[in-house]
Amino acid sequence: MNTLMKHLLIVYHSKTGNTERMAQAVYRGAQHPDISGVETRYLRAREAGPEDLLWAHGLLLGTPENFGYLSGAMKDFLDRTFYEVEGQLSPLPYAMFVSAGNDGSGAVRAMERIANGYPFVRVHEPLICRGEVDSACLDACVELGMTLAAGIEMGIF
Ligand SMILES: Cc1cc2nc3c(=O)[nH]c(=O)nc-3n(C[C@H](O)[C@H](O)[C@H](O)COP(=O)(O)O)c2cc1C
Repeated sequence: MNTLMKHLLIVYHSKTGNTERMAQAVYRGAQHPDISGVETRYLRAREAGPEDLLWAHGLLLGTPENFGYLSGAMKDFLDRTFYEVEGQLSPLPYAMFVSAGNDGSGAVRAMERIANGYPFVRVHEPLICRGEVDSACLDACVELGMTLAAGIEMGIF
């Protein structure tokens, strides 16, 4: 393992594919050819665990908004990892992306409360795509992935 490499973790959940398309675009952004010092791990929420958080220097979390909250699978990831990383995590720079039918603010509020506990430190505005995941949304996702990767590579977060 190259110990100089920084590590970016992308964790997402998607039931019908919208958040997944966003996550793929975020991943593409993180792999921009100008960013050579960042290794990215791209995982579904159910595959991710505490060891992934302990590995990461930066975190991107993607969820649909369900019932005004995070999806169950994203909440499960957070439930499964909180005590396991407690006291071992330097404040972890993070940002989130949300696919929502028409709102998204409930998912953001929920994540922000939970992030305070870990702690994750918000380094970018939440990205909410409402309704159809269109090309403007995907462009913003690419930009988000690039920004997080470049930021942790340069050590500015
Ligand atoms: C059970 C359920 C609850 C939902 N609740 C909300 C909601 O509270 N607010 C909202 O804007 N959209 C809501 N939606 C719509 C989803 O957020 C939206 O379809 C999203 O694009 C799904 O993402 P996915 O394709 O990644 O699963 C809900 C959808 C489902 C299936």
